[in-house]
Amino acid sequence: MYRSHNCGELRGEHIGNEVTLSGWVQRSRVMSGQIFIDLRDRYGITQLSFIDNEHPDVFANAKKLGREFVVQITGKVVERQSKNPNLPTGDVEVVAEALTILNSSKTPPFTIEQDTDGGEELRMTYRYLDLRRAPLQQALKLRHNVSMEVRNYLSEQDFLEIETPYLIKSTPEGARDFVVPSRMHPGHFYALPQSPQTFKQLLMVSGYDKYFQIVRCFRDEDLRADRQPEFTQIDCEMAFVEQEDVLNTFEGLTKALLKKIVNIDMQKPFPRITYADAMETYGIDKPDIRFDMTLTDITHLAQNKGFQVFDQAEYVGGIVVKDGASMSRKEIDKLINFVKRPQIGVKGLVWVKCNDPIKSSVDKFFTAEQLNQWKNEMNATSGDLILLIADEGYRARKALGELRLHLGNMLGLRNPMEFAPLWVVDFPLLEKDDESDRWHAMHHPFTSPKPEDIALLKSDPGSVRANAYDLVLNGNEIGGGSIRIHNRELQSTMFELLGFSKEDAEAQFGFLMQAFEYGAPPHGGIAFGLDRLVAILGGQENIRNFIAFPKNNAGRDLMIESPSTIDAEQLEELGLGLV
Ligand code: AMO
Ligand code: AMP
Repeated sequence: MYRSHNCGELRGEHIGNEVTLSGWVQRSRVMSGQIFIDLRDRYGITQLSFIDNEHPDVFANAKKLGREFVVQITGKVVERQSKNPNLPTGDVEVVAEALTILNSSKTPPFTIEQDTDGGEELRMTYRYLDLRRAPLQQALKLRHNVSMEVRNYLSEQDFLEIETPYLIKSTPEGARDFVVPSRMHPGHFYALPQSPQTFKQLLMVSGYDKYFQIVRCFRDEDLRADRQPEFTQIDCEMAFVEQEDVLNTFEGLTKALLKKIVNIDMQKPFPRITYADAMETYGIDKPDIRFDMTLTDITHLAQNKGFQVFDQAEYVGGIVVKDGASMSRKEIDKLINFVKRPQIGVKGLVWVKCNDPIKSSVDKFFTAEQLNQWKNEMNATSGDLILLIADEGYRARKALGELRLHLGNMLGLRNPMEFAPLWVVDFPLLEKDDESDRWHAMHHPFTSPKPEDIALLKSDPGSVRANAYDLVLNGNEIGGGSIRIHNRELQSTMFELLGFSKEDAEAQFGFLMQAFEYGAPPHGGIAFGLDRLVAILGGQENIRNFIAFPKNNAGRDLMIESPSTIDAEQLEELGLGLV
């Protein structure tokens, strides 16, 4: 028997018991006559004490222990003289009577404790060591708990978890495909799924009216804190449903998760906002509604007073920083530099301090009375700071949206353990890609236009709204879905609009359109990003900490050194030889 208890288990009630523990040496403090060792496993840390007077052999052996040695000890639980209130086991220690060294360890390249001194790259290279640390173990446990809860909840609602293949062909979700060469069919390739989209729709045709799958998806796209080339979706689809049914079902799931995972009872329905309103009010399609600071359009009040920057702009609008009038010139300059960065790319910022007298960076052009008009329009009060941006409408709002988030971070308005979900609905069906001057599906090409907008498909495609929705949590898109097209004609029209020739559409998606001819039911669904959801429930935005073996920012796995080259023979076999 390697252990009678784990390292997080012993309490005052165990005092006097004889126990056996196994684990890793996290830390050892050698003193004259006594050695203290913190023994760690994934359940916690227990202090061991080795006493020279009592067990000289064991004491001598313990002297040899280095960090991360794997040991087994047997001993008696005693009350600790100096208790550690920060440790669940902090009331007790185990006085070792026997010690077996199960394995030695090289000195690890970084400290394996709550906080570590290891840099990102080093920790990625030795991921298996980093994964010994409590924060990562808690993150993976949280992930497990979320997955379990999702499975329980959906299963109880009659959803079936059905696996779909990984070796498929292209699914258009807007990223590039990862491809896999076929040995048996030289010159032919599988694509890894960007999502199981087409398969889950086919399952609806097959009559599995409630499907889900916790499934890996693969997308070759630029990486960010919230993006990995392989990530996991909670992928769902339902038949005989309207948008309302889908939203209700997955709002229920989200509420259950908030309750079970972070113990938050969300009684009220999640707020809903249209895409158009989100862009107008927050300058972004995934608003963080934990704080206000919404955008106000004051174009009508700001123009024709001789200030060129405003007069030439399509839009003048801004946000109000509560009690911000006390900000120094230097602080405001930092905000100006923030919006002038190329990523945001506007030319400047006008400020108005709502003091008495009211003061602004454009006093030359506007009277106090005019500034007060803005103040009223924007619901600012005495002591507030108004920040204004003028530009083309979309760019100005987007910049204000970024400034808003930046200020939210600065002012501590984005408490990671406060949760503010909302639905964004009525997304446009299509968006124009300026470079190629072509229409793209904003969600994906299987998304249904709103029936009342179908007539506009040919005449004014840009104004057609889709039955598409996103679930947003704390400013992050954690889920997206839509009601689908289930009619062959409409699906063909859609491919046509997207610039597919009849032949291309047939070659790529003929199977789906054919299936639509055999009694396809109305259907729709959604997919949550599991990694993102778990990270946010864990109070973080970087999903890497919630994936056991993630890729780095360059898409590399530094531990196994992948991607890597393969040998000529293997290339040859795959029909990829460079003859
Ligand atoms: P979508 O492309 O919006 O929809 O993806 C659904 C959710 O998956 C998460 N996500 C990602 N997470 C981590 N890394 C990535 N690279 C990444 N890409 C997406 C996001 C996103 O909201 N088939 C449709 C769903 C449907 O229509 O039912 C789809 O894949 O949280
Ligand atoms: P300029 O004409 O560039 O000297 O700018 C005059 C003032 O207007 C400066 O305080 C700039 O920060 C500000 N400003 C310039 N461009 C914009 C803009 N697009 N929106 C808001 N303020 C701006």
